[in-house]
Amino acid sequence: MKTVKFGVIGCGLMGREFASAAARWCHLAEIDVRPEIVAVCDSNPSVSAWFSENLTTVRQITSDYRELLNNLEVEAVYIAVPHNLHAEIYCAAITAGKHLMGEKPFGIDLDANRKINAALAANPEIFVRCSSESPFFPAVQRIGQMLEAEAFGQIIEAETGFLHSSDLNTEKPINWKRMIEFNGEYGVMGDLGIHACHLGFRAGWRPANVRAILANIVKQRPDGRGGMAECATWDNATLLCETSDNSTNDSFPWTIRTHRIAPGQKNNWYIEILGTKASARWSSVNPDILHVMHVDGGEQLWGEIQTGYESAYKTITGGIFQFGFTDSIQQMWAAFLYELRHGQAINRFAGCVTPAEAALSHELFTAALQSQQESSVVKVRQSE
Ligand SMILES: NC(=O)c1ccc[n+]([C@@H]2O[C@H](COP(=O)([O-])OP(=O)(O)OC[C@H]3O[C@@H](n4cnc5c(N)ncnc54)[C@H](O)[C@@H]3O)[C@@H](O)[C@H]2O)c1
Repeated sequence: MKTVKFGVIGCGLMGREFASAAARWCHLAEIDVRPEIVAVCDSNPSVSAWFSENLTTVRQITSDYRELLNNLEVEAVYIAVPHNLHAEIYCAAITAGKHLMGEKPFGIDLDANRKINAALAANPEIFVRCSSESPFFPAVQRIGQMLEAEAFGQIIEAETGFLHSSDLNTEKPINWKRMIEFNGEYGVMGDLGIHACHLGFRAGWRPANVRAILANIVKQRPDGRGGMAECATWDNATLLCETSDNSTNDSFPWTIRTHRIAPGQKNNWYIEILGTKASARWSSVNPDILHVMHVDGGEQLWGEIQTGYESAYKTITGGIFQFGFTDSIQQMWAAFLYELRHGQAINRFAGCVTPAEAALSHELFTAALQSQQESSVVKVRQSE
């Protein structure tokens, strides 16, 4: 078993999710590489204290990310900080020779994303990926297998999205994710967009152009100090993309919906693909359930498959049991470490977002901002 020594920069919600996934690494059955968190950094010391209370492996706690990057013991870093800091800290990590799992959107905007990719181009030996966990749900893995086998025939239409509702509560105080200076001009697209694009990009879908309709629904929020603060970020984004399928060169409409204000939803990914030979739909509302329809000349019947714990990276849990969010996070980390060690993911749809895929998402979201501003259809620049 190879051990990769990690530093975590940003010890909030996602930093702790990684720590939890790493702490139960024995859950994975066949993997020959594991993470060990030896250093943590957060500008808020009360947050990083959680790590020393819960992990015995942490030997460095600092509030300055440069100190962590100077730590020669640290081989790889997970950076989960507000979006305005991505370019600065990701570039510093790459330049310091640390393998990097970065959080989405992988730069606050296109310019920041290009800086990260330039640092990577100058240090090609560094392994860099962006986090996104939804493809690791077993039902999504099955959709991946259908795409791999070209089981859909010609794709007629696809819709993917991420629908969230905690911001429906207008009394919820503003936080950095609702502030343009920390979250970015993309608003909800920067927050949720890569999640909604990951499977399609991995399938080879390339949006040629986009018509976006963006909405800022809640324009003010409590500031947490008794007053109100302006809330100028886009809450909801609906993107209609004319998309080409790289494997067939056919084009089809792909709707990508990322909504922070989605009544009736909680925190749900969904996918629907309609094809000439088969169709499939899935939502994390019922994460085990995959609906599939095959066109075989008979009745058009949607079948319901109950998937079990059929994870891409084998675990001790039997296939009959249920799979959940924290499992998808651990699978994503297994994918990162497996690919770091073996040079490729265990299957095409069991890999983390690549820097090229993150770059394509930036081209798409930047075109979407222009589309909203001009009420027009905007070409998506193909970054590769
Ligand atoms: N993959 C997912 O499902 C998922 C879910 C939520 C958030 N995210 C992403 O993760 C990243 C972090 O989001 P979060 O929800 O964990 O936020 P968070 O606010 O819970 O945590 C961010 C942490 O960064 C720390 N920080 C701020 N400036 C710092 C600096 N200069 N040096 C070190 N630490 C600093 C903050 O003190 C905070 O503890 C964002 O990019 C976000 O988009 C991903």
